[in-house]
Amino acid sequence: METFIAYNPTKLFFGKQSIEYLSKHLPRIGQKALLVFGGKSAKANGAYDDVIAQLIKAQIRFVEFWGIKPNPRVEEVREAIALGIKEKVDMVIAVGGGSVIDSAKIIALCIPKNNDPWNVMKGKEKPTHALPIITVLTLAATGSEMNPFAVLQNNETNEKLGFGSPFTYPTISICDPTYTLTVSKEYTAYGLADIVAHLLEAYFGDGNALLSDRFVISVLKEVSQIAELLLSDLQNYELRERMMWASTCALNGITFHGRKSGDWGVHDVAHHLSVLFDIPHGASLSVVYPAWLKLHRRKLNQRIIWLGNEWWGIKTTSKTIKQIEDFFLAINCPIRFNDLNLDLNQQKTFESLLMKNKPTGMIHRLTRAQLRKMMHFMK
Ligand code: NZQ
Ligand code: ZN
Repeated sequence: METFIAYNPTKLFFGKQSIEYLSKHLPRIGQKALLVFGGKSAKANGAYDDVIAQLIKAQIRFVEFWGIKPNPRVEEVREAIALGIKEKVDMVIAVGGGSVIDSAKIIALCIPKNNDPWNVMKGKEKPTHALPIITVLTLAATGSEMNPFAVLQNNETNEKLGFGSPFTYPTISICDPTYTLTVSKEYTAYGLADIVAHLLEAYFGDGNALLSDRFVISVLKEVSQIAELLLSDLQNYELRERMMWASTCALNGITFHGRKSGDWGVHDVAHHLSVLFDIPHGASLSVVYPAWLKLHRRKLNQRIIWLGNEWWGIKTTSKTIKQIEDFFLAINCPIRFNDLNLDLNQQKTFESLLMKNKPTGMIHRLTRAQLRKMMHFMK
């Protein structure tokens, strides 16, 4: 194993009615909150009313910011920072999925010193603390509720970047699967694809970490066991519950211990699809992952075989890759440009951006020639 630090300060409250912990804990955290939301979903799934009731009960003052978009953009984050500064808030509460939570993390980081969020994402400004971040999760996918990461995009520069710091772990996260009962079939599937991708990014990182590999396999088995059942029974609480815990465990550190790092090359390439064509995160990953596996099938032959055998009892690389494609197809996720309805011009635009930005993994570095080869596999 590689040497590692195990650190995760987020206090997670999981299960029905876990929202009730908010009024107990918030008074010790702050006096005035900036609430951050996406579109209308927080009102439809009941989270909005529940959060407001808890704030009133705890006599916490608050202001609301609505309008964070899926694949969140730096513009809205700037607006929310300005509102938070004007209103002198001392904590930020995200109510939503990964896009809202990621935005709230950067908002909380930028408010104290009025930092520019894009400069922070680019590493040009380095805040030294953040306001406390509280999350009320309404979509199981990213694991953002229990990790320090945030992803924002900039449509002017065509960049979608990730960020992580010790200051951007949520202090408290409320994870009540009830709020996810309203998530559409499409976004449930994209969430499942994202969970699988996080597990594979960890698995194809570097370092001999058998127990972490076994955690990966356990969560992969959990996800593949519930995926199709859940998509045909979206209101099933027990399946929503299992998906939510799987999504948290896929990216809260437990699958990374003992490795140098995950790879993240697939995420880096997939972010280019999202930023160009506003493709949901999970849908971009299910297109890029099979291509990445095909590219590395020889180099990673033994790793792919171990994965296939432990996950499904499959003994060959090509059958494992095919099974992963079939899994994505079975949950209605795209695996080719055609499934995304990308025409030839759009494919060329994508290739040009890849050639310009040269996305790569942290362990398996991608050359321009390899990126071109991946393009070929995505057609
Ligand atoms: O905008 P609203 O109205 O809230 O609707 C959202 C949005 O349209 C809707 N939704 C959320 N909760 C719902 C619901 N609809 C019905 N019922 C509910 N209970 O779902 C849509 C998608 O929401 P979004 O937050 O964008 O989805 P997700 O959680 O998949 O987040 C994706 C973002 O997270 C980033 C991605 O790059 C992407 O920008 N990631 C963040 C990571 C992290 N922080 O660790 C890691 C991931 O790899 C990922 O990169
Ligand atoms: Zn992801």
